[in-house]
Amino acid sequence: MIDKERLPVHVAIIMDGNGRWAAKRGLPRLAGHNAGMLAMKEIVKESSRLGIEHLTVYAFSTENWKRSEEEVSGIFRLLVRYVDSELRELHENNVRVKILGDYSVIPRAAVERLEKTLAMTCENTGLRFNIALNYGSRAEIVRAVNRIREDMKSGKIKEVVEINEELISRYLYTGDENGNIPDPDLIIRTSGEERLSNFMLWQSAYSELAFTDVLWPEFTPEEFRRLLEQYQNRDRRFGGRK
Ligand code: FPP
Repeated sequence: MIDKERLPVHVAIIMDGNGRWAAKRGLPRLAGHNAGMLAMKEIVKESSRLGIEHLTVYAFSTENWKRSEEEVSGIFRLLVRYVDSELRELHENNVRVKILGDYSVIPRAAVERLEKTLAMTCENTGLRFNIALNYGSRAEIVRAVNRIREDMKSGKIKEVVEINEELISRYLYTGDENGNIPDPDLIIRTSGEERLSNFMLWQSAYSELAFTDVLWPEFTPEEFRRLLEQYQNRDRRFGGRK
């Protein structure tokens, strides 16, 4: 049983295993991503239903450009399809969508649809659904440092200001003038791989990690709830003592 009073505030997911799911069935990789998109839809709904405040999914990394042109453009087409088919429902469910990563370089059609989604949902107060897109954590930290330098040059922040964790956090993709996205309490990775792969390196300092052998397209709300329950049995000390 999940204790609704002790839900993780922020759950982040590395949705891995779409390609292997497709290969197992003799299907093209894109069929795996399509099934992955359907799984993602269900997890967004379940998060909203449970009352989780922040859900972040790793949809496309800065390293994913190394894949074939066909696969890359297929993933972006799926993203557009997801946004088109779900926008109304996301909005009706009070979900606020945010993109983490430099999405300006992805295909124009996708950028336009995304911007519409961001604008339409920006005042919603329910689940905050963050899609990490063209996201890489090292690039995120480098970008933060460069943005701090620019803001010092332009006088937006004083050059004598102390560089501390709070300042760096504010300049990451998860930084927000109206309050940063809190660090993930729980990071889930599917498909049996046990690594972070350049995802939220700064923000994961004290995250609980959960790994499951289930391939992402087969990840169900039941499996999600099982991992949430497992999380609730962990002992989080943040470097301190009990
Ligand atoms: C990892 O599986 C998955 C991705 C790189 C893409 C994730 C995309 C989706 C879940 C669907 C589209 C939704 C959006 C929002 C774009 P993999 O291909 O690395 O699997 P493998 O390790 O088995 O090859």
